Amino acid sequence: MDYKQQVAAALSSAIDGALSTEDVYNKIERPKDSKMGDFAFPAFALAKVLKKAPQQIATELLEKIDQSQFEKVESVGPYLNFFLDKAVFSADILHQVLTDGSEYGSNNLGKGGNVPIDMSSPNIAKPMSMGHLRSTVIGNSIANILKKNGYNPIKDNHLGDWGTQFGKLIVAYKMWGNEEDVKKDPIKHLVDYYVRFHKEDVEHPELDDEAREWFKKLEEGDAEATRLWSWFREESLKSFNAVYEKLGVEFDTYNGEAFYNDKMQEGIDWLNKKGLMHESQGAQVVDLEKYDLNPALILKSDGASLYITRDIATAIHRDKTYHPALNLYVVGSEQAYYFAQLKAVLLEMGLPSAENLHYIPFGLITVDGKKLSTRSGRIILLDEVLDESIEMAKKQISEKNPDLPNKDEVAKEVGVGAIVFGDLKNERTNSIDFNLADQLRFEGETGPYVQYSHARAESLLRKAGATEVSADETIMTDPEAWDTIKTLADFPATVIQAREEFEPSDIAKYSIRLAKTFNKYYAHSKILEEDDQKSARLALVKSVSIVLKESLRLLGVKAPDQM
Ligand code: ARG
Repeated sequence: MDYKQQVAAALSSAIDGALSTEDVYNKIERPKDSKMGDFAFPAFALAKVLKKAPQQIATELLEKIDQSQFEKVESVGPYLNFFLDKAVFSADILHQVLTDGSEYGSNNLGKGGNVPIDMSSPNIAKPMSMGHLRSTVIGNSIANILKKNGYNPIKDNHLGDWGTQFGKLIVAYKMWGNEEDVKKDPIKHLVDYYVRFHKEDVEHPELDDEAREWFKKLEEGDAEATRLWSWFREESLKSFNAVYEKLGVEFDTYNGEAFYNDKMQEGIDWLNKKGLMHESQGAQVVDLEKYDLNPALILKSDGASLYITRDIATAIHRDKTYHPALNLYVVGSEQAYYFAQLKAVLLEMGLPSAENLHYIPFGLITVDGKKLSTRSGRIILLDEVLDESIEMAKKQISEKNPDLPNKDEVAKEVGVGAIVFGDLKNERTNSIDFNLADQLRFEGETGPYVQYSHARAESLLRKAGATEVSADETIMTDPEAWDTIKTLADFPATVIQAREEFEPSDIAKYSIRLAKTFNKYYAHSKILEEDDQKSARLALVKSVSIVLKESLRLLGVKAPDQM
């Protein structure tokens, strides 16, 4: 049950229509100091409508409100403070968490609606950048959050696997390439060929003609061109998959740009039929003045398609295939202008899902102040950061808990979790500088801290043995228990908020808050003491463990039972 809703309802009937229930709900605050109640309503919100002093409004409201459902209601100055009935509330929340288990906090707001998520989307034959990593991790978490809200997310890896550069790559490979090298370290060597091509074509411009020729062949389905292209693609994917595997991220589809190569005509016809295309210096463009944007270039003067031409085809395909409830693109903020143009074009076309198109940008990431892109083009760098993190985690775990049986597995979950959590705890549009050692600490606002709090809860439950947990006679009135229970009660609303904002950091911050209140509770109480409250305390511990684990799962982070 949403207790804020209960407060809003009680207020609403007392206010008698002066403010909508929704407005009341949004005005209700959570006092920092619990002496001021569990919820507070600032009567300022009504002063204008009622033309009275807030203080007077508060006193009058207090008279009218049905107080029976609360422990007490007080007016303090211009505020109305609500104190929930602790016994009823605690038992109710713990009961709910224990009954629902990992389903606690789930809702069906999405009603099963399809949500394609364009995410990760690295470019073939190039290293995966930190930006692609962020897109992977953020997109994956948003998919989990959507599912928790009753949607059906479809994770689509829109690979950059088409374009004139593949003609160049084929020419370069045929001249200087060798199969063994590509197999050993595909990205590195493919980048080398590409770089060398650009060096040599300065003096040998005929190379460019050849490259154009080969790309044309590729477009026409020539056997050799296709064989080489799919091999480059396959080898690149192998190295990308090593990263995805480590992160534990899977995709539903890999419909990259090439997939749309033969599907672009429909979009072009659509634009023409609507009279949206016009010629500008030989090229075909769509005017977007109405949106305060520069014209979008759809076809080059030689008729060649562009990134946006393929994106229009992509949007049409997703629209027809999924009838998306939401249509998401998780792509770095450097493409903000481009996505504004894309959305504008789709709106002009009248594509049904254009209204639901949400571009979900995110900021830059640097590691210890350094950008992680590299000329030598090794995706390995990313892989190296993950490995280094796992190695560091292993060291810490071995010091802390030398007897842990499955150290390697836990080190992987903690090492990778630290990186994923360290990314997701930041509002996604912020740029972040990543310091591995900081993110790996077991104290502070880190993934390992939340994981450790979960493991601590599990260890308590193990120590308690087969003791029954029971939420029934919960009377735990100490403030630490009460804070923890209230935090547990906040989870469902946090799940909704994270979906509304497409913001995994809402969940990450929540998990830190829950871990902190729980650790305070842990420090203040003798949880395993044999008295009549023991099973209630264990119910609280069990509930915390469930919700911490579920929060981490939403972020794509594992929660080991021991560490
Ligand atoms: N491959 C692109 C890049 O690395 C990202 C693709 C984003 N998705 C899209 N539908 N345009 O910049």
